[in-house]
Amino acid sequence: MAPPSTILIVDDDPDIVKFLKDFLESKQYIILSAYSGEQGLNYVHTEQPDLVLLDVVMPGMSGYDVCRQIRIHPLTTLLPVVMMTGIHPEERIKGIQVGADEFLTKPINREELFARVRSLLRIKELHDVVQAQATQLAKWNKELKVKLEHEAKLAEVTRMLGDIGHEVKNSLMPVLSGVELLQEELDELFHCLPAPVMEKAGASQKMCREIIEMVTRSAQRIQDQVREIADCVKGLTSPLQLAPCHLAKVVETVFKTLQVLADKKGVRLQTVDLESLPQIQADEGRLFKVFYNLVNNAMAEMLQGGTVTIRGAEDLLQTGLKVDVIDNGRGMPEEVRQSLFSERVISRKAGGTGLGTKIVKDVVDVHGGHISVDSEVGVGTTFHLSFPYSPPTR
Ligand SMILES: Nc1ncnc2c1ncn2[C@@H]1O[C@H](COP(=O)(O)OP(=O)(O)OP(=O)(O)O)[C@@H](O)[C@H]1O
Ligand SMILES: [Mg+2]
Repeated sequence: MAPPSTILIVDDDPDIVKFLKDFLESKQYIILSAYSGEQGLNYVHTEQPDLVLLDVVMPGMSGYDVCRQIRIHPLTTLLPVVMMTGIHPEERIKGIQVGADEFLTKPINREELFARVRSLLRIKELHDVVQAQATQLAKWNKELKVKLEHEAKLAEVTRMLGDIGHEVKNSLMPVLSGVELLQEELDELFHCLPAPVMEKAGASQKMCREIIEMVTRSAQRIQDQVREIADCVKGLTSPLQLAPCHLAKVVETVFKTLQVLADKKGVRLQTVDLESLPQIQADEGRLFKVFYNLVNNAMAEMLQGGTVTIRGAEDLLQTGLKVDVIDNGRGMPEEVRQSLFSERVISRKAGGTGLGTKIVKDVVDVHGGHISVDSEVGVGTTFHLSFPYSPPTR
């Protein structure tokens, strides 16, 4: 139910005020009483009544002056005002000129008073509803404008992503076919070498093979990634491909991909207690991204002779696995640590997007897992990950 309306009575005659107050209170209105024009105008602004019953002739500020002031102020310009006049028609004319809505002739007839008050309050109520709707509409309009601008930007980014994806895909074709040819050429070349030379060249052949494999694997991953971007641009996000997955295998592929880089930096990559862990239900492609990003990040912070260790354990309640990615690199400052896993990651790398750790967290989350990090500047960093055996169904 709507709260009762508030009526302000402004009259210098206390008997009239009392008469009106008693009658209107019996009709369930809330009444405010003012005994001068100044006091009445003050209440109009401080108490915000729904209607004003206004005497005309008062010492000091007259009813006409009060009504004029009410109409001038933008917040009260539509406030209903009923003027209580004498019988002279000039008083009404003047009242109309200063903006009164209704008139009652003194002595006041109660039924007429009630009818006028009720009708004006009904109009005010409707006006308030319209006003609230207009405010709401203006708010929605503003929100819609922001949303449209945002969507236009998003559409531009999406279009650009599509273009980049297309370019990357095209540029990868010669890389993939080129390495294949290179492999054949090298095989043929090594094959033609006389046996004594081949003995010496064996190690070199092995290394060439490993590098070619690494380039091929990485190029294929980029291709998969581009396909994902293309799907995303087309409005599809690739569903989670859940299958039994051995973390040790995923980490092995990551290490293979990063081994050449690690050797170049003089960083050791090792696993501890990963082999014996049971399988989990996971998306292997996405888990690759998790460990690739974490190991790649760690390597960027290491000096020669450092080690990245991936250590596994079953959690105490045996509901899933725990995996720590530990490095003895330079660690990270508190503000970087605090920013990790969010869209506002502070990247300390030239050309770094700061997206790596956010992607890692998204993948861990989608598997129903958890990730946290400990880091000490000058000592190293450990990312703690946990995965349930099976992600919760959504
Ligand atoms: N193992 C770590 N040791 C020290 N600092 C780290 C480590 N991992 C991440 N960081 C810090 O966190 C920042 C954010 O990492 P994130 O992977 O999100 O982005 P990035 O590596 O800077 O950029 P990109 O992933 O695009 O290459 C890094 O720039 C680095 O400063
Ligand atoms: Mg990174």
